[in-house]
Amino acid sequence: PAKYRRNPTPNLPDRQWPNNELTQAPIWVSVDLRDGNQALANPMNVEQKLKLWDELVAIGFKTIEIGFPSASQPEFEFTRRLIEENRIPEDVTVQVLVQAREHLIERTYEALKGVKQAVIHVYNTTSIVQRENVFEKSKDEIKAMAVQGAIWVQEYAEKAKQEGSNSEWIFQYSPESFSQTETDYAVEVCQAVMDVWQPTPDNKCILNLPATVESNSPNRFADQVEYFIRHLPNRESAIISIHTHNDRGCAVAAAELSLLAGADRIEGTLLGNGERTGNMDIVTLAMNLYSEGIDPELDFTNPEKWMDVVEEVTKIQTHPRHPWVGDVVYTAYSGSHQDAIRKCLLKQEDSKPWNVAYLPIDPKDIGRDYEAIIRVNSQSGKAGSAFILEQEYGLNMPKWVQMDFAGTAQKLAEEQGGVVSHVDLFESFKDYYKFGQ
Ligand code: KIV
Ligand code: ZN
Repeated sequence: PAKYRRNPTPNLPDRQWPNNELTQAPIWVSVDLRDGNQALANPMNVEQKLKLWDELVAIGFKTIEIGFPSASQPEFEFTRRLIEENRIPEDVTVQVLVQAREHLIERTYEALKGVKQAVIHVYNTTSIVQRENVFEKSKDEIKAMAVQGAIWVQEYAEKAKQEGSNSEWIFQYSPESFSQTETDYAVEVCQAVMDVWQPTPDNKCILNLPATVESNSPNRFADQVEYFIRHLPNRESAIISIHTHNDRGCAVAAAELSLLAGADRIEGTLLGNGERTGNMDIVTLAMNLYSEGIDPELDFTNPEKWMDVVEEVTKIQTHPRHPWVGDVVYTAYSGSHQDAIRKCLLKQEDSKPWNVAYLPIDPKDIGRDYEAIIRVNSQSGKAGSAFILEQEYGLNMPKWVQMDFAGTAQKLAEEQGGVVSHVDLFESFKDYYKFGQ
């Protein structure tokens, strides 16, 4: 959106990111119905998954990871319902997760019978800790697991074709816990997987790099991504995807820096639901881009609708200070902030770039109305009341009236013990000045 401009960035001559700044949205992938769902105490039932699916499609996701159909009957059934009820729009691709195990891969293709196009997302873990303590396998043995998984994925796709399937398959591989894996070794494993799939620039595979547990600072994670990309021999035949979790609270930062480091695709969830502290919050990253004038190609303008559905199916309330969409994030209580916002809003012209202090975007762009912006409480000065009475009741208050009335508004807030409603504010103004009596 042309309405927003970039913040001035200091000149950093030794900065070496492959992308100096972002100019377009990445390929987004919602994993709400899989990673988000697997983290819930009460996982969604099929009807709840269908409800969230509809919202994800309405928001504009073109790839949606719908689950792990070989893992349970509801997951299998959900996949069948989407296909049999023709709920997958032409331009939307479903993605399914599966471990590198033959019977699970076979069952996955069974679940997908009749699908037009799907991403088969196969993974195995490659991290040092899992190799040593969980699998007790050597590097070569773990690499062999990945290669075998890639072979099965390819073989069952071929088998489906021989049995008459017209489905288009896209292959995705994740070295789970990439961030806790030696980066050279991750390259080696992914290269071995690519040797099986033989992707080309016209028929790419997807390599998804997870911070399964966020254990590095975001810049270190992005360095790993950059190193991986630079050292992958057939980089032009792979889409590089990023899948971060939020254990250190930096999943969005890690994803954003990874895009600067050259990644193409981002997996995450709405509002960051997911294992432990959650997955990367797509809403935050998308709105970060939006506020810099980049079209995120996702539509979050109707939060009342999609947030209600997310909260209903996850049973998790959104924090009121959640970036971009929390209930109070476009609200100013302090007098000096209210005064600055009021002055800027009065000067803001629709045709000019957004230029309002304390409001990083126009709240209207995210479906918030003006009432939510300025709330008068006992900390508020004259400007908040003046702005509300002027905008909503057409009262153009001279400065001395603003100052004269400020104390009354603050007293009212103290009496009411919180935020004064705009109607009460107007009534108290009329009462104070015997106005209209
Ligand atoms: O966090 C993770 O590593 C995952 C993979 C299975 C992609 O969810
Ligand atoms: Zn995950």
